[in-house]
Amino acid sequence: MSNILRRGRLEAAQDEEILRYTSSMEADRWIFDADIAVDLAHTVMLKEQGIINREDCSKILSGLLKIREEGMEKLDFSYEDIHISLESRLIDMVGEDVGGRMHSGRSRNDEVATCIRLVLREELTGLLEEIHELRQTLLTLAEKHTETLMPGFTHMQHAQPTTLAHHLCAHEAALGRDFDRIQDAYSRVNLCPLGAAAFASTGFNLNRKRTQELLGFDGLLGNSMDAVSTRDFLIECASGFTNLMINLSRMAEELVMWSTSEFNFIELDDMYASTSSIMPQKKNPDTAELMRGKTGVAVGALMSLITICKGLPLSYNRDLQEATPNIWRSVETVRASVRVMEGMIKTMKIHPEVLAAQAVTGFTTATELADTFVRETGIPFRTAHQIVGMLARKMEYPTLKKIDSAAEIVLGESLSSRGLTEKMVKEALNPVSNVKRRKIAGGPAPDEMLNYLSKRQTELELN
Ligand code: ARG
Repeated sequence: MSNILRRGRLEAAQDEEILRYTSSMEADRWIFDADIAVDLAHTVMLKEQGIINREDCSKILSGLLKIREEGMEKLDFSYEDIHISLESRLIDMVGEDVGGRMHSGRSRNDEVATCIRLVLREELTGLLEEIHELRQTLLTLAEKHTETLMPGFTHMQHAQPTTLAHHLCAHEAALGRDFDRIQDAYSRVNLCPLGAAAFASTGFNLNRKRTQELLGFDGLLGNSMDAVSTRDFLIECASGFTNLMINLSRMAEELVMWSTSEFNFIELDDMYASTSSIMPQKKNPDTAELMRGKTGVAVGALMSLITICKGLPLSYNRDLQEATPNIWRSVETVRASVRVMEGMIKTMKIHPEVLAAQAVTGFTTATELADTFVRETGIPFRTAHQIVGMLARKMEYPTLKKIDSAAEIVLGESLSSRGLTEKMVKEALNPVSNVKRRKIAGGPAPDEMLNYLSKRQTELELN
């Protein structure tokens, strides 16, 4: 049959290039099921409100179910979007006198906004579960490594000893905030625009509450003009996805680094590695590298969304069609990345002996040595900092004798005369004691870590 939209006001059909340029059919694969759900809910409500009769309602409903069964492939892709293609298929099936009544009191503008929100809320739910899983994996692994020493870094230089548990929990904490942000965004996604029609609502006596309930939304968008014209919920989600992806990319970067011969902290499972087509010995951490690279997809989607939405006057503008595919690209990439990261972390081989050996290289106990001077001799921290700094410059093992001669230069007296003993120095240079001492809230001391982990675990279970 002829194009049901291009037989009134318009005469000329679109040529293939213009159709391809303007059509959203390909991206609309994402909203096929949602569009049927929206059609079903709207039709039921039309009947309940006495806008269509019982027989027409039941014919439309069975037609829609049939279309759902046939799948998207059976639709005519020469239509500009799924909404009109689906309606045309329905009219083919049940006749225009029946099928032509479904779109009463509705526009594609409120229809598409409803579809996007329906699909996105499912994606958000899936993503939240996946983040939860990854956080659990990090916590479980951390629990096994509260005593596994490793070097902590600042500026990529060895800084102070810490534990693998402390490091893993830092990533988990960031993911916790990502979880909260996305959960918060969900509450603004799960609102129903249906009934807004083109923008001015409608003179039909629609029951907006009813379609909202049928589609499982938590509430309505109150202003019909806002309902069809806003995509701020996409920007908000894309921003949450970007933040999450940046956190994953930082983890991925560490996995890449930690897999080098220079670090050798871990070895990724073969599943996540590739080899070289020329260098037979290579085991490359490609999956982690790709995750770092795919961060660009999330960042790009956010940039596209904000650029598309900027400066759009009210209410609906077709530009909005260009916004939608960005959120699908982003959420698909981000969800896969969370799942893959979980697998990489769960299966990687950790080298605790390398981590422990590296925990002390680069005089990582220098801070604790200076702190010990302060605590045991009463000198100001800045002075202790200078004395230890002088020892570090000489790159020699700091014995009490060497400490004393540096102190003589700075203070004009030795630290042993102020009560510092060889035992205190030894203790300060011990990485295990270093970590144990850092027992205030948030620190890596094993006991504090265990407390932290159990609190975190409880919070995770409450989510
Ligand atoms: N494909 C469009 C979109 O994604 C459908 C919405 C309305 N189209 C229109 N010409 N008013 O935004």
